[in-house]
Amino acid sequence: MKSRLRESALLRGLRLKLRDQIRSQPPRWEATRDDLAFRYLSGNGIEIGALYRPQRVPPGASVTYVDHAAADELRRIYSEHDWIQTPDVVDEAERLTTFADDSLDFVMANHVLEHVEDPVAALSTFLRVLRPGGVLFLTLPDARRSFDGPRERTTVEHLLRDHREGAEVSRADHYLEYVLLVEGRTGDDLVKRSAELEAVGFRIHFHVWEPDTFLELLLALQLPVDIEAVQATGIEFAVVLRKNPEKARPLPLGEEEALTSTP
Ligand SMILES: C[S@@+](CC[C@H](N)C(=O)[O-])C[C@H]1O[C@@H](n2cnc3c(N)ncnc32)[C@H](O)[C@@H]1O
Repeated sequence: MKSRLRESALLRGLRLKLRDQIRSQPPRWEATRDDLAFRYLSGNGIEIGALYRPQRVPPGASVTYVDHAAADELRRIYSEHDWIQTPDVVDEAERLTTFADDSLDFVMANHVLEHVEDPVAALSTFLRVLRPGGVLFLTLPDARRSFDGPRERTTVEHLLRDHREGAEVSRADHYLEYVLLVEGRTGDDLVKRSAELEAVGFRIHFHVWEPDTFLELLLALQLPVDIEAVQATGIEFAVVLRKNPEKARPLPLGEEEALTSTP
């Protein structure tokens, strides 16, 4: 009897030790994405830029895949991937002309916004196509833990200027900065490589955020949203927003045009 009691106490101790070990692992970014997706996504929505990693969604959620190019072109551009999700719709994140206002239950864009030249237009468009109460699900690389580390974090002022004056005002600088600080090229090589990338319109990380600076952008834009979740995990951070038209406010920073015009 005594030895059986000792054995069960030992087993219980081991079980708790195992539990504590599992629970003390840092959350994996894939698991965090899935957890947020299963908590917040339902109904009919889109995933922009799924490419080789379409997001898992809960049963019953239906996803239309959107990308800026058709499958053959994506395979050519991103030839390092042996499989990609075929887009159902070819459209630009900044415009989403295929989708009517207030028509979607969710919009998802994982590691896309940093490739977009005018994120202010893209955020405004995502909210245009979401129905009131619909969910905007974003993940972005966290510059503190990515190859963007040495780059300056993009400021709100920079993004408003790109939106107001057009992405071409800072395009060449973006390519130069990326090639210098991410690819580590200098001199003639730097200039040549930047010009090559710009000529083919390669979608580098035009903009660079970490959670604080992205939240600064969201707050400065005074978007009509409730912030449902913000989670930094490993290489990325996730932001889940819910469209709330009651929060529509006068446009920020004297930028009367900022959120109403698309280029
Ligand atoms: C780095 S991949 C993201 C892959 C995947 N979603 C992930 O989580 O890693 C970026 C994707 O966004 C797409 N993309 C970039 N800019 C876009 C734009 N302006 N409009 C639509 N899709 C865009 C690219 O073609 C590509 O499929």
